[in-house]
Amino acid sequence: MEQPSSQKVDNKITHVIGVMSGKGGVGKSTVSYLLSLALKLRGYRVGILDADLTGASMPRLFQLKKKKIKTEGEFLIPFETQQGIKLVSMNLLLPEEDKPLIWRAPLLNQAIMQFWEKVIWGELDFLVVDLPPGTADVVLTVMQKIPLSGLVVVTTPHDMVSMIVSKSVSMAQAMEVPILGIVENMSGVICPHCGNTIDFFPRDEKLSDMITLAKIPLNTKLASISTKGLSVSDEEIQNLLTTLVENTLKRLEEVKE
Ligand SMILES: Nc1ncnc2c1ncn2[C@@H]1O[C@H](COP(=O)(O)OP(=O)(O)OP(=O)(O)O)[C@@H](O)[C@H]1O
Ligand SMILES: [Mg+2]
Repeated sequence: MEQPSSQKVDNKITHVIGVMSGKGGVGKSTVSYLLSLALKLRGYRVGILDADLTGASMPRLFQLKKKKIKTEGEFLIPFETQQGIKLVSMNLLLPEEDKPLIWRAPLLNQAIMQFWEKVIWGELDFLVVDLPPGTADVVLTVMQKIPLSGLVVVTTPHDMVSMIVSKSVSMAQAMEVPILGIVENMSGVICPHCGNTIDFFPRDEKLSDMITLAKIPLNTKLASISTKGLSVSDEEIQNLLTTLVENTLKRLEEVKE
């Protein structure tokens, strides 16, 4: 990678929201996608910074297999999705999406800072940052260097998960980044026959003192976003997007005070 100059883009971004967990595979990218979409449907100008450099999944969720990001000198121009969301992701820069990125932490940190400083985001109301799993380097860099308005913490209701998620909550608190609340994902399964919710995971109370922004059940519509997209006219999806966006906006106001 070439050594970048110190020149930064003068973007105007009102709110940066990080989506984190600590734990892998709990639905951070799915929640980042849903939150961005919900904000966009409300008429906001939205961007997504895919901070999961080695496991980038945002392009897949938007079904952008062969798309590439354009550059302007040393600056990057975000890809604009069909929904009008600006997206920057390592997979939109790599020649092949299934080729691994074999970089050590300093390079990853440098790349994250380029996604922040060298991208022509322009004017955005919201930039959603999809964080990688864990509490290591890249997450630390994002928390230290990017002015986050708040964090959405994704968890599943399992004690193994909440134990690890608690670590990332403590990390955010130590870094003085406000936590907007928890999204409890895979929160039960809705029986296709009787409509009742089955609690799949053993309930755990570890994060029960945190504000819940949304509870999202296991849902085949969400599992197939990357292959079939998501119908925003579907009532169940509409209700989910409304709950998620309204609670997030409310919490953003509260943490500002
Ligand atoms: N509520 C849900 N119902 C059904 N499938 C879901 C749900 N949430 C997420 N999934 C599926 O679970 C898998 C993991 O989700 P996702 O990629 O969003 O997790 P992640 O936390 O971002 O993972 P990683 O730690 O690898 O970044 C995906 O295949 C996704 O489609
Ligand atoms: Mg992810």
